[in-house]
Amino acid sequence: MKRFLFFLLLLPLALVFTHCQKSVNQVYKLESPSGNNNIHFQLSPDGSPRYLVSHQGKTVIDTSYIWFELAGAPMLKSDFEVIGTEELMLNEDWEMPWGEQRMVNNHYNQIKISLQERSETHRIWNLVFRAFDDGVAFRYEFPQQEGPAEWLITEERTEFQLTGNHNCWWIPGDWDIYEHLYNTTPFAQIDAISKANNANLAQTYIPVNAVNTPVTMRTADGLHLSFHEAMLNDYSDMTLAVDTQTYKMTSNLVGSSRNNYKVKRQLPFETPWRTIQIAEKAKDLIASKLIVNLNEPGKIEDMSWFKPMKYVGIWWEMHLGVSTWDYGMTQDMGSWLDTGQKHSKHGATTENAKRYIDFAAKNGMTGILVEGWNTGWEHWIGFEDREGVFDFVTPYPDYDLKEVVRYGKEKGVELIMHHETSSAVTTYDQQMDTAFALMKSLDIHAVKTGYVGKIIPKGEYHHGQWMVNHYRRVLEKAAQNQIAINAHEPIKATGERRTYPNAIAREGLRGQEFNAWASDGGNPPEHLTIVPFTRMLADPIDFTPGVFDIKLSKKTPNPIPGVAQKNQVNTTLAHQLALYVVIYSPIQMVCDLPEHYEGHPALQFIREVGVDWEQSVILDGEVGDFVAIARQEKETLNWFLGAVTDENERDITIDFSFLDEGKTYLATVYRDGADAHWNLNPQSYQIETMQITKNRKTSFHLAAGGGLAISLKQ
Ligand code: NOJ
Ligand code: CA
Repeated sequence: MKRFLFFLLLLPLALVFTHCQKSVNQVYKLESPSGNNNIHFQLSPDGSPRYLVSHQGKTVIDTSYIWFELAGAPMLKSDFEVIGTEELMLNEDWEMPWGEQRMVNNHYNQIKISLQERSETHRIWNLVFRAFDDGVAFRYEFPQQEGPAEWLITEERTEFQLTGNHNCWWIPGDWDIYEHLYNTTPFAQIDAISKANNANLAQTYIPVNAVNTPVTMRTADGLHLSFHEAMLNDYSDMTLAVDTQTYKMTSNLVGSSRNNYKVKRQLPFETPWRTIQIAEKAKDLIASKLIVNLNEPGKIEDMSWFKPMKYVGIWWEMHLGVSTWDYGMTQDMGSWLDTGQKHSKHGATTENAKRYIDFAAKNGMTGILVEGWNTGWEHWIGFEDREGVFDFVTPYPDYDLKEVVRYGKEKGVELIMHHETSSAVTTYDQQMDTAFALMKSLDIHAVKTGYVGKIIPKGEYHHGQWMVNHYRRVLEKAAQNQIAINAHEPIKATGERRTYPNAIAREGLRGQEFNAWASDGGNPPEHLTIVPFTRMLADPIDFTPGVFDIKLSKKTPNPIPGVAQKNQVNTTLAHQLALYVVIYSPIQMVCDLPEHYEGHPALQFIREVGVDWEQSVILDGEVGDFVAIARQEKETLNWFLGAVTDENERDITIDFSFLDEGKTYLATVYRDGADAHWNLNPQSYQIETMQITKNRKTSFHLAAGGGLAISLKQ
């Protein structure tokens, strides 16, 4: 903490200038600290705000306009004049309580441009631009002013005029779920609507040809761009509508069919940041901290109650159909009756939980998630009337919550609570105090929340303002109760973990679960070579890696009703190991069944791998092809390295110059066997040890769909 204060006091250097001029055609130029990124702002001849972005002197976003459409008020679009500007520079280092690195540098130049309408309404609108060396960002402020105190935004129109038909990695602009496979196409071939009927999703709504963010692109010159937003709060998620003819993207906010507007705000207010990360090499996108830097400093003083962890769970067995979430009770007049219909497949039993705890304790994993512990699962997927079904405090008769917590404590394994809301959001809002009070009474400090199904009330979507506010309310209430949140079916991550470090992880992508039951055969081998350059730019991911029984030998033919095909995980075993380093999260699941790990030599890597990092070095990578990352563990200063490839086998050269000078490390290398292949022989692997120093460069072969995991101990 002392170190944190030191940096806060000594490094920030803020300079503020204010100019007052009334000008229509002046160009306002903002340069990033090194001068590599530039933003130009200029009003058009009719007084419409527009901007342009360049990198190393070359335009990357061509002239793009910004305007707002409002309910009950004229558009906020043209006839503006600049009534003032303010400039600011900041260079600070701040410390992450947990993260992929301890210290983060936040260095930018900023200009705030105040506009006022020349027409009668005289509305005032500020545009704030920030230029960083790893990209640019801007947002809009609506200050207190005369006129209506409440603004109803029917659409925000922020344009991003691309300079060509870039190659894009995109998911559809779904208002309800981000769990789509990434598509790789030129911009002109983006076709989100064709993804609208997706049999694997409990909820999905794709009204226009738009993409969700982060969306990542590579220009013909090899420059990488990624578009997202930061600090999404009391506003709607921004999807980007695509015009495939003109190569233009325009913000398209998620709406609600209950209202004639998309966002309702009282003055004064500000929008989330619109962000463009710019990198010459793909790997530098991953190194960028732009999104998290755009959020406000931490609001939780004491985070000592949360420790990054590896966790096991009564979870994968349900996705395989080995056991069930439900117990087989019936509901009568609002209370659950044990009518003796319990079937033998209920997963969350006291005994089973103890089995997982024993396994975790033996292998240095400090958390256990238990799903299906509370009454209500008989009335989960596919029911319309889900309000009031889950209460988050009543265990099934065969699960002794207190005993599981006690037993876990004795063994050094803490329980991660599970709250599947089934998107009955009002119920969760009503039950949250009671649910958190129970957790507090049992000294439980983390909960996995879930939002499967269409939002109740009907007409709201997962990503609209109403839900954005719900997710934020949960985070804030949890912070007050020293509870960390791992949300599934969440709102997108926008770097809020800086402000609320209890936002430890979230899903918000096609996770491991799809490999168990998706009717399209699961995530293809390339999936996790795209995710680090897209979804992972937003924040930590609860992907739940670690399947060893790659062919899913225990899978029952039909775990999810209507899905009968044979699935498997479409990677090699070494690829699964590498994910503990490649995918960042302060909580990493060890998701397979204990019997698949017992006695397995490769478990050693998972046992040892860190979860909280001093620093991360993104070694190499190309979006959709491969990625290699090294991370240094905080306390031990040991290094761990992970690399994964797509469906193509390849040789990669690892330059170990990230290691400390003068030290010899004992490296344990977990690599694909000579005959390994994600489909033909996924469980073939080999382990070897070697001495490695900083001067070493070594080539490794990765099988098709393969990976490489190395632990380097001093
Ligand atoms: C979907 C989540 O992604 C998954 O992890 C969980 O097991 C189920 N919902 C049940 O809550
Ligand atoms: Ca999910």
